[in-house]
Amino acid sequence: MLTIDFNPDKQVFHLSNNVISYIMKVDQYNILTHIYFGKAITHYSGLGVYPRINRDFEVNFSENGLNNRTYSIGVIPQEYGDYGRGDFREPAIVIQHDDGAYVSDFRYRDYEVIEGVTGHNTMPAAYVADDSEAKTLIISMFDEVKNLELKLYYSIFEDKATLTRSAELINHSEQTVSIEKMMSYSMDLTAGDYDLVQLNGAWARERMLEREPIGRGIRKLDSKRGTSSHHQSPFMAVVAPETDEDHGDVLSVQLVYSGNFELTVEQDPYDNLRIQAGVQSLGFSWKLLANESFHTPEATLTYSAEGFNGMTQAQNDFIKDHIIPRRFKELERPILINNWEATYFDFSEEKIKSLVDQASDLGIELFVLDDGWFGRRDSDTSSLGDWFEHQDKLPHGLSELSDYVHKKGMQFGLWFEPEMISEDSELFRAHPDWALQLPDRNLSLGRDQFVLDFSREDVRENIFEQMVAILSNIPIDYVKWDMNRHMSEVYSLILPKEQAGEVAHRYMIGLYQFLSKLTQAFPEILFESCSGGGGRYDLGMMQYMPQVWTSDNTDPVERLKIQYGSSLMAPLNTMGAHVSASPNHQTGRDTSLKMRGDVASIGVFGYELDLNQLTESDRVEIKQQVEFYKRHRQLIQQGRFTRLISPFETNRCAWSVDLDDELLIFYYEILTHASKPLQKITLNHLDKDALYTVYTEDEEFEAYGDELMALGIIVNPVMQGDFQSRVYRLKKQKA
Ligand code: GLA
Repeated sequence: MLTIDFNPDKQVFHLSNNVISYIMKVDQYNILTHIYFGKAITHYSGLGVYPRINRDFEVNFSENGLNNRTYSIGVIPQEYGDYGRGDFREPAIVIQHDDGAYVSDFRYRDYEVIEGVTGHNTMPAAYVADDSEAKTLIISMFDEVKNLELKLYYSIFEDKATLTRSAELINHSEQTVSIEKMMSYSMDLTAGDYDLVQLNGAWARERMLEREPIGRGIRKLDSKRGTSSHHQSPFMAVVAPETDEDHGDVLSVQLVYSGNFELTVEQDPYDNLRIQAGVQSLGFSWKLLANESFHTPEATLTYSAEGFNGMTQAQNDFIKDHIIPRRFKELERPILINNWEATYFDFSEEKIKSLVDQASDLGIELFVLDDGWFGRRDSDTSSLGDWFEHQDKLPHGLSELSDYVHKKGMQFGLWFEPEMISEDSELFRAHPDWALQLPDRNLSLGRDQFVLDFSREDVRENIFEQMVAILSNIPIDYVKWDMNRHMSEVYSLILPKEQAGEVAHRYMIGLYQFLSKLTQAFPEILFESCSGGGGRYDLGMMQYMPQVWTSDNTDPVERLKIQYGSSLMAPLNTMGAHVSASPNHQTGRDTSLKMRGDVASIGVFGYELDLNQLTESDRVEIKQQVEFYKRHRQLIQQGRFTRLISPFETNRCAWSVDLDDELLIFYYEILTHASKPLQKITLNHLDKDALYTVYTEDEEFEAYGDELMALGIIVNPVMQGDFQSRVYRLKKQKA
C-alpha cells in the first residue's frame, strides 16, 4: 500500500508504504513542521507535535498584533528552515533578495500529489518504470513579500524504505535574486542521542568507516573538490547509540549528485537534531532571474530498524530498482581483465594481444584497454583531449584489436578521461581557453592536467563528437570513464562574472547532460565510472554507469576495509574488484593468489596483472577462480549481502551473500597468531527448519538452519600464515 494522505482538519501529511511512514504538519503559522520518519504506522492521530513553550532568548512570533511568547521558530522542528527571522540553526535556504537582505519567510500554501515521480530537468534522479511504483508529494511554500515559491518534492516508492527529496525555487517576481545556499532537504528530529556514521578517506583509501557520538554544534561532512571525492562520500547515517550491524534504528542519507556537496548535522541547545544534505554552499551562488527556477539535486533518506545490514539491504533494493538503469539491473557483469597494472603506459600491440590470448584461455570475458591508446600518450603528461588512436602503439588500429578480442570470444572495453585536457595536447594548443581558469591567475596542474570547462556546450560538443567517432566506428562493449584530478580555479571564461558562483554546479549539469546523451546514443555499452579509483562513487554517476572502480588500491588486505565501507552505500554489482600482482603495486605487500581471489570475488570480479608472468600453478588456480565466480556470479551480483565481522574492529573480516537456497560466506584473517582463540561465524538469513549441506574447504556436513544460526560455524584455527581466507557454501536441501 502506497499512500500520500492529507488530513485537512489536522493539517497533517502522511506518506507511507508497508515499511516506512513520513509525517509532517502545517502549524497555525503555516510553518511546515516535521513530525516523524521511521517504521510504517497505519494510525496517526496527532502525537509528536513539539510543545509550545517559552524559551528565553529565542525570537517569538508576533503577527497580526499578537505576540506569542510560546512560539519560537528557532525551536520548532521544521521541514526546510529558512533564514533571518529567529531560527538560528543552519538554514536550508539562504537567498540574497533584491533589497540586499538575506531574510526569507516561506510559509505553506498548498500541495499536489502525482503518481510516479517528477524526474529532474538537469540532474539524475530516482526513476520508475511504471507510475504505480511511486507517488510524489509536491508542497508549495511562498515567501509572499518577495513573490518566491519554494516547492518541496517527496517521492515514496512501493515496498522501499527509501524516500527521495529535493527542492525547487521559482522566481515569480520581476527581480533577480541570488541563491547563496539551497539544500536538497533539511529535517529536524526532536531530542535524542545519536551517533554519526560516515565514510571518509583519500586516494587509494576510500570509504573508511567512522562513527562518533553527535554532540552540540555543527558537524559538516563535505567536498569542495569539484567531485564527490575519495575524501568524503556523499553518505551519512544517523543512528541510535546501540545500533549495530543487525539491530537498531538507522537513518541514512545519500545524494544523487557527484559534485561539491555538504551533509550537516546540528544538535541545537535543546538536543534537537537538524540534518541536511545538498550542494556545497561555499563558493556557490546562483542568480535566479524573473520567471526562472532552480531545482536542487535529489537526496535519498532511508530508514532501517535492523541496523546497518538492514540499511544496506534497503538502500540496495532502492538503488537497483530506481537509480541504476533497469536494463543493467539483472545483467550479469562480465569478468574482465584490465591492462593498467600489467603494462601501465608501456604497451605494444603484440603485448596487448598476448594478454588477450592468455585472458581468453583463462575464461576471462572482457578485455579493457586502459590509458595510453590515444594521441601521443606515453605517460600521464600529455594527450588528454586528443581522442584519436596512437598509431605508433597500435599500428593496425583499435578496430583490428577489437576484432581480435571479439574473435577470441571476449568483449572489448576502452578507457577514456573525457573531462580533462593535457597542456601538451593538440586540443589545448587549439583551445587554451577551454580549461577551467581565471583570466588573471596561474592555472594549477594536477597529475599534469587541467579540467575542461564542462559547463560550456562547445567544449562538451567537441569531446562528444570525438568519442562518438570512436564508439560508433569500433565495436566497443564497455567504457571506463575516468576523472583523475580535482578542481581548482573554478571559473568559466564565457560566463558573466556575476554568475561565477554557478560554475561548479553548471559543470555537473553539463556532465550529466553529456552522460545522458552518450548513454542514450550507446545503450548497449556498459559504462564503468572511475575517478582515480572510487573518487566519484555516488548515486549520481550510478544513474549512467552501473559499475564503479572501487579503488586504485588492489591490495586485498586494504580492500577488506575499502569494500566493507563501500558496501554501506552501494550494491555489490556496482563494485569493481580485481586480482592484481603480488607484491601489490600500491603497498608492496605479498599475499596469496587465494586471498586476492577471495577478496575480489565479492564484487564485480576481474584481473589487473600481467598474465604472461603467471606460473603454471597460478594459471590452474586462476581458471578455478574464474569458474567459481561464473558459477556463483548470479548469487554474488544479485543476492543479499550481509556484513558479519568488521575489519574496522577486528583482525578479521567476514561477509555473506545469499540468494534463494544458497549462501556463500567469505572469511578473512589478516595477521595470524599462535594459540589462536576460536573464531565463530554467526549466520543469519537461513530457513530455520531446512536441512543444509555445508561445504567448507576441507569437509562437507549437514546441519539444520536453526542450529547453524544458533551455533554458528567455527573456523578451523590451524590456518597458518598471514592473510588467509576461507569460503563456505551452504546449500539448502530440497524438502
Ligand atoms: C586512474 C584509474 C586507474 C587507471 C589510471 C590510468 O588512476 O583509477 O585504474 O585507469 O587512471 O591513468
